[in-house]
Amino acid sequence: MSGAAAGNKGRAKDWPLLRHAKAGLRRVFDVLERGAERLFSPALNPLAQIGALSFFLFWIVAVSGIYLFIFFDTGIVDAYSSVEWISGPHWYHAGVMRSFHRYASDLMVVTVAVHLLREFSLDRYRGTRWFSWFTGIPLIWFLYISGITGYWLVWDMLAQYVALVSAKLLDVFPIFGEPLARNFLTPEHLSSRFFSLLVFLHIAVPLILLLGMWIHIQRISRPKVNPPRLLAALILAALLAVSLWKPAVSQGPADLTRVPVEVGLDWFFLPLYPLAESWGAWSLWGLMVGVSVMLAAMPWLPPFRRAPAAEVDLPNCNGCTRCVQDCPYEAIRMVPRTDGEPFPRQAEVDADLCVACGICMGACPSSTPFRHVEDLKTGIDLPGQPLSEVREDVIAASAGLTGDRRMLVLACEHGAGGGDVGGVVTFPCAAMVPPSLIDFVLSKGLADGVLVAGCSESTCYNRLGVEWTKQRFAGARDPYLRKRVPRERLATIWASPFENGRYEAEKEAFAARLATLDAVGPGPAAEEKGKVRQEAEG
Ligand code: HEM
Ligand code: SF4
Ligand code: SF4
Repeated sequence: MSGAAAGNKGRAKDWPLLRHAKAGLRRVFDVLERGAERLFSPALNPLAQIGALSFFLFWIVAVSGIYLFIFFDTGIVDAYSSVEWISGPHWYHAGVMRSFHRYASDLMVVTVAVHLLREFSLDRYRGTRWFSWFTGIPLIWFLYISGITGYWLVWDMLAQYVALVSAKLLDVFPIFGEPLARNFLTPEHLSSRFFSLLVFLHIAVPLILLLGMWIHIQRISRPKVNPPRLLAALILAALLAVSLWKPAVSQGPADLTRVPVEVGLDWFFLPLYPLAESWGAWSLWGLMVGVSVMLAAMPWLPPFRRAPAAEVDLPNCNGCTRCVQDCPYEAIRMVPRTDGEPFPRQAEVDADLCVACGICMGACPSSTPFRHVEDLKTGIDLPGQPLSEVREDVIAASAGLTGDRRMLVLACEHGAGGGDVGGVVTFPCAAMVPPSLIDFVLSKGLADGVLVAGCSESTCYNRLGVEWTKQRFAGARDPYLRKRVPRERLATIWASPFENGRYEAEKEAFAARLATLDAVGPGPAAEEKGKVRQEAEG
């Protein structure tokens, strides 16, 4: 076999250090994800639902917080005793809610951190995809401020420690008339007004966090914000078990006549607090702001060489909206028709949002290689890898196939098949392959079988590519793979670049199946072989 055809012309450059860091992390995630897929099934893999789980945990924290607020006394004197009442006599409802509130918040810190690392390892944050990453950074701050103000409200020894250190940190800025820390030195200085401000902050900041979460997902279509029910039930059961096993408790009432020396820290929310004392406030601010700025700048480190955005060809667009429905990045919208054709609308691409995944090209009803036209065009095309070139590449790659198991591989460049050579045409996404292309290859006898190779099932680089491809092949989504396509001559492999072993094994198994089919003969398709080959060679 020979003749691999390259796919995406805009492949990203990366700095060696970042590339190695990503590859190392990706390997770790790959092992974890495969384990999770085996344990839960690909659809329930919690790592693939990690953003949705963060949303779910937010709602648990919000609902448990509202419940606690009913019993909470906001005065400085009564705050501690009301929390004790919640955890003591009323442990079986309010106490459990308090534990839910604390542990769900802690878990949210973990899910957000894992989510950040996962998106980084998958390189899903650069170029046009900067928006979700960039808007994710303030969410970390809002999450932490929400948690820290929460610890403050309990007004126990830990709260006193949090208050003192936070005041030290804030006092480096001249925003308050007098040093905040003074409030926490003697009981006379602590005012109820200040305490009310904290209560307000503990409600307002999570609301800002929620607004930020909403903004965060604005540039992606069909974001997963709700985990599957079974996964949600498992999380709730785990939180309940931990809440009963180790209920959240206070650490003795705050006492401003004493300096808190030994307190148990929440290492999810307060890991940096001990540093404030040893490093000093300025150094800690430097660390926190420095890391945030560096993270926020990462989408442009190094600048991403963008592949040209998809383009609409009006004479081939009938306004069917399939491309709009399939684009994972909200990059297409329907606008009133401008060319006088009898269709009310036409597709329009926002080049700033397009990541050039080609999924829209695979969705368009005009993307059919069967058309007998010199200049093959479709309703929406990728200038970097247009349909006409795809057809040529497919014909050229299959011309090099020999033997009784001629297999053409149509591979996503982000999956295991992306590194394959010989009889391979690569694409930025498996869903860029229009189902009619498979029909074309098989009905014209260009190959004995077609293997479509994409990313691993729960880690699609383009979010929805694997799902759309499966649905199209199953006849559950337009454009369908036609019934006449012999299914025994089509195989799919969903494997990450680290699953070469499995990829090769499944490919070999498919080749072996094809060899048995060849004994039966490919049927009428064979008649076409010579003709199309001649076309390709001519
Ligand atoms: C409260 C915290 C956060 C929540 C609730 C959250 C939630 C989500 C959700 C639901 C999605 C859509 C997932 C999908 O359907 O494919 C998403 C995407 C994303 N998030 Fe977050 N996220 C949070 C924080 C962060 C942070 C801190 C970062 C990194 C700095 C980040 C980076 C991203 C990126 C890069 C994507 C999408 C990339 C893409 O496929 O184009 N997120 N997030
Ligand atoms: S899928 Fe094709 S025909 Fe349908 S609206 Fe999009 S560009 Fe037009
Ligand atoms: S190539 Fe098409 S589907 Fe992909 S982001 Fe651009 S407009 Fe959307």
